[in-house]
Amino acid sequence: MKVLITGGAGFIGSTVASKCADAGIEVVVLDNLVAGRQEFAARFPFYRGDIADEALIDRIFADHPDIEATVHCAALIVVEESVTNPCRYYDNNVSKSLTLVSSVLRNGCQRFLFSSSAAVYAPGDGGRVDEHSPIGPQSPYAHSKAQFETMLDDVVAATDLSAISLRYFNPVGADPELRSGTSSARPTHALGKLFESYSTGTPFKVTGTDWPTRDGSGVRDYVHVWDLADAHLRALSRFDEIAAASTSLTVINLGSGHGTTVWELVRAFEKVLRHDIDTVSSGRRTGDTAGAYASNERAARLLDWAPSLTLEQGIDDTARWLVMRASRLRGTQ
Ligand SMILES: NC(=O)c1ccc[n+]([C@@H]2O[C@H](COP(=O)([O-])OP(=O)(O)OC[C@H]3O[C@@H](n4cnc5c(N)ncnc54)[C@H](O)[C@@H]3O)[C@@H](O)[C@H]2O)c1
Repeated sequence: MKVLITGGAGFIGSTVASKCADAGIEVVVLDNLVAGRQEFAARFPFYRGDIADEALIDRIFADHPDIEATVHCAALIVVEESVTNPCRYYDNNVSKSLTLVSSVLRNGCQRFLFSSSAAVYAPGDGGRVDEHSPIGPQSPYAHSKAQFETMLDDVVAATDLSAISLRYFNPVGADPELRSGTSSARPTHALGKLFESYSTGTPFKVTGTDWPTRDGSGVRDYVHVWDLADAHLRALSRFDEIAAASTSLTVINLGSGHGTTVWELVRAFEKVLRHDIDTVSSGRRTGDTAGAYASNERAARLLDWAPSLTLEQGIDDTARWLVMRASRLRGTQ
């Protein structure tokens, strides 16, 4: 089998690419490098360009007529930036993604696996969400994911396209072999900020300590990126079976299946790094919620998938990745 991975030079796309390659699936990568790193895709045929470049997509399929599925990981992903620049996010994540769908369909590729997000769900109360939980995106980024899912659903109903949307919760870690990982220089999530506190000595801010959760801090669901990649592999290998069972878009949650509070994350981090972190508590930030964690029941049933790696493993792999990357970057200066 051969697959096209858009955004395959990014954090998740590159990890999915490694997982696929390890399983004998041939990988072709398309990425415009707006955020990704070309070296993450160095082992694969690589096309630098935009998902909305129709001539480029035609060229990729002319070069690789045996591509059987598209894994669409390309997107802009910074929530805060989506609030200040919504046009850029809707253009990239919705309009351009729709052009991509037309392009792959035109080239006869009818299997489409989409990187969606748990951000499409309505604000959580710290509890479990399944695929029937209410949709209620809270940012242009989250809206862009929800809107594209709606469009995909319509396209699936009207054309030969089959599509699966994987709603990731909070990915952490790196490829355990450290072939790729996050390239973000600006941590925007709690684990990234913990690493920032660790390296700069500045206190880690726990924002919101009066949520209705077991210790008052917010809940997230951290899932190892290598487990996520495994779910993609399973979705690709069972694609036709899953698609045959539905005339609409199939959505599947991918999380660890349990919630971790911010205080629990801090303790796990201290244990793995063997280093105490200074913390300060502050009030809730605008737009924050108590959070949520995934019901993985559907992923277990359709993909026979369950996460196998712990949060501690995710923290350790992230740490090993950041150390290796920093030393490599120093070596190239
Ligand atoms: N990282 C997370 O926390 C998270 C959570 C849920 C869902 N997701 C989704 O997973 C996917 C991958 O996220 P990631 O964390 O790997 O992000 P990333 O920024 O590391 O990777 C995205 C990649 O897409 C590329 N890209 C963006 N727009 C493009 C375009 N128009 N044409 C070609 N390439 C383009 C970027 O250069 C980058 O390499 C995204 O769709 C994201 O919305 C991520």
